[in-house]
Amino acid sequence: MNSLLDKTEIGFGMEAQGLFLVCSTVILLIIIFFLYKTYRTSINVEAKLAEFSSLTDNRFGRKMHLIEVNADEYKLNKALLGPLARIIDEYCVLTTDRHGTITFANGKFLALSGHSFSRLIGQNESFNHPDDDSLPVMQCDQALSGVWNGEVCNRHADGSRYWMNMFLFPLSYISDEDDGYIYFGTDITSIKTENNQLMQEVKDKNQKLDQVESLLLHSEKMASLGTISAGIAHEINNPIAFVSSNLNRSRDYLGTMAGIIQGLQKRISEEKFQQFLDAETNLNVDARKLTFMMADYPALMDETDEGIERIKKIIRDLKHFSHNQPEAFSPTDIATCMAMSLNLAKHELKNRITVSHSLPDSMPLINGSESQLSQVFMNVFVNAAQAIEGKGNITIAGHCDEQWCTLTITDDGPGIAEDTLKQIFEPFYTTKPIGQGTGLGLSISHDIIQHHGGTMTVESQLGAGTTFTIRLPLKQTDRADAA
Ligand SMILES: Nc1ncnc2c1ncn2[C@@H]1O[C@H](COP(=O)(O)OP(=O)(O)O)[C@@H](O)[C@H]1O
Ligand SMILES: [Mg+2]
Repeated sequence: MNSLLDKTEIGFGMEAQGLFLVCSTVILLIIIFFLYKTYRTSINVEAKLAEFSSLTDNRFGRKMHLIEVNADEYKLNKALLGPLARIIDEYCVLTTDRHGTITFANGKFLALSGHSFSRLIGQNESFNHPDDDSLPVMQCDQALSGVWNGEVCNRHADGSRYWMNMFLFPLSYISDEDDGYIYFGTDITSIKTENNQLMQEVKDKNQKLDQVESLLLHSEKMASLGTISAGIAHEINNPIAFVSSNLNRSRDYLGTMAGIIQGLQKRISEEKFQQFLDAETNLNVDARKLTFMMADYPALMDETDEGIERIKKIIRDLKHFSHNQPEAFSPTDIATCMAMSLNLAKHELKNRITVSHSLPDSMPLINGSESQLSQVFMNVFVNAAQAIEGKGNITIAGHCDEQWCTLTITDDGPGIAEDTLKQIFEPFYTTKPIGQGTGLGLSISHDIIQHHGGTMTVESQLGAGTTFTIRLPLKQTDRADAA
């Protein structure tokens, strides 16, 4: 919708600009033509030229300056020019020779630029250029192939910038004798500043809209994930339950059988045992292989058990999204949650990671779920520890005002690339190898914080580290209370 509106406005703007350009060009050409004719008919003009020849060698510039500084002449020519003179007075006028050396500037240009006539004359037009190469500037060669119109940025005598809408003509357009260029401009600094402010506002608003859009998208995804996960969790839970119980039973059975075989091995000679195995040709097993199998099966069972536990954890995590188990909120101490999480994550932190904190001695209690908030902090600690290769640091900071408690958890790990950063709160987004990461930790954490009426954001710099910021409201919203 926005882009459609923009296009319509741009289309209308360009048509109007085109019309304005054509009209302005025609008017300016008429003005210059009349002005020039008037100068040429003025009797005193040629006589006065010598007076100013010390200032510049450009004939046209000299004529212009002559008219400007000679009050009588100016009045006379003004009278001859009539309303056109009033129009020309509205413009800042500047002439250069064909190399861009300034040969004339009218009073209005001097007033705007803050330069004196003598300071400006003889300088190259680049004298007016601002110190930023990326800005459009006045350049006479822009009019090599005809009239040029555009916005240029100039530098005041005091160094500050001002903007002009300029028309640039070759002087040959109005006189066969004169070589060089003439600039006609109007000061558009205030419009430009206003435009820039408006553009910045539009940019900020668009950015906010994008954020809201992605938040909405995220909530929508989470809502569908909630519905799907409730079903999946139910469907997988049942088979997993009997796989797990059968595995335990099989472990017992195998243990018993292994005990019997070992007992048998003890009671009969090795030779007889091998003969017994050889007789059972379909078993295709010798005594050595049998010993290996009996030593290997407990490890296989453990691994399978671990796999089942992992599946159970994913199911538990997924169940979180279905929100069908409302957890009671109660006054919760953040520092206790942090301590609990650090304890739970200590296996990952080991002696590699130094954790320091600068939490205030006493922080107000949050109305929330201690176990859920601990889960969030633990996710962040474990992620940081897993991201840091070798030794590293995690820093916890926090402060509260009347409405919010803000907590930051910073690590000095490898940081997160911009592309990855956009996705880390997405469910199932992980950069870890299969089996190590489920990609659910941060999306669950984000969801939990949202249900507490807070926000969870991330900032990161590649090579420098990552900071997670969690803001929790001290006064819970109705939604949070109901969760
Ligand atoms: N502190 C961190 N430093 C670097 N990368 C991180 C950090 N925290 C999270 N990540 C990135 O975010 C991804 C998603 O994290 P998470 O949702 O917890 O899933 P998982 O840990 O299972 O991969 C991780 O795979 C990792 O790429
Ligand atoms: Mg994780």
